[in-house]
Amino acid sequence: MLGAGACGKVFAGELPGVGRVAVKIASAAGMRALANEAAVLQHIRHPSVVKALGSCWTEQCKAIVYEYLQSGTLDKHLGVVSSTIDSSGRAASSDAGLGHAKSHGKAARPCFNWQMRVRAAYQLACALAHLHNSVPHVLHRDVKPGNILLDTELNAYLGDMGIAKVSSGNSQHT
Ligand SMILES: Nc1ncnc2c1ncn2[C@@H]1O[C@H](COP(=O)(O)OP(=O)(O)O)[C@@H](O)[C@H]1O
Ligand SMILES: [Mg+2]
Repeated sequence: MLGAGACGKVFAGELPGVGRVAVKIASAAGMRALANEAAVLQHIRHPSVVKALGSCWTEQCKAIVYEYLQSGTLDKHLGVVSSTIDSSGRAASSDAGLGHAKSHGKAARPCFNWQMRVRAAYQLACALAHLHNSVPHVLHRDVKPGNILLDTELNAYLGDMGIAKVSSGNSQHT
C-alpha cells in the first residue's frame, strides 16, 4: 500500500505494457470524491498534474489507475536536507551533506536542495495556472504537501482532485 486518505487506499500495481502504476480504490465514504476526481481528471492534461491512466467503475470496485510517482509526497521531503527514501516512500534524514545520500542500505535519492524546491514550486504554479485558466475553470481547493507527488528526479505533480471544483463562474476559492 502506498498511502491512504479521505477517499480510500492507494496501492502499487503492475500493468502489462505500462509497468508500475498507483491504484486508488474508493472506500464506501470516498466514492463521491473519487467520482469527482475521475471527472475532473478527464478535463485536465498537464505535465505537472498526476496523469490518470484509466478507471474502473463496477458495482464491486470503484478505482482510478494513475502513473506511479516513485518519490512519494512532498511532505516526506520537506525539512530533510539530504534524504534516503525507503520502499514505503518514507524519507529518512542523513548528515551526508549535499548531493546524493545513501545510508543504512536504502536507495540513494537526490537531496531536495533549493534549486529543486524552486523548480518544484514553479512546476506547481504552472499546474495551478493551467487549472485556473482551463475552460471551464478547475479549482483544486486542497493544495498541500500531502497532495503533491514527486518523481525520481523530484519533479512535482499536483495530485488528489477529490474535492476539486469545475466552475465556469467567478468563484474566489483557491
Ligand atoms: N500516483 C501516485 N504514485 C505514488 N503514490 C501515490 C500516488 N497517488 C497517491 N499516492 C499515495 O497515496 C496517498 C493518498 O493519495 P491521495 O490522492 O492524496 O488520496 P486521498 O484523496 O485519499 O487523500 C498519497 O499521500 C500518496 O502517499
Ligand atoms: Mg490526499
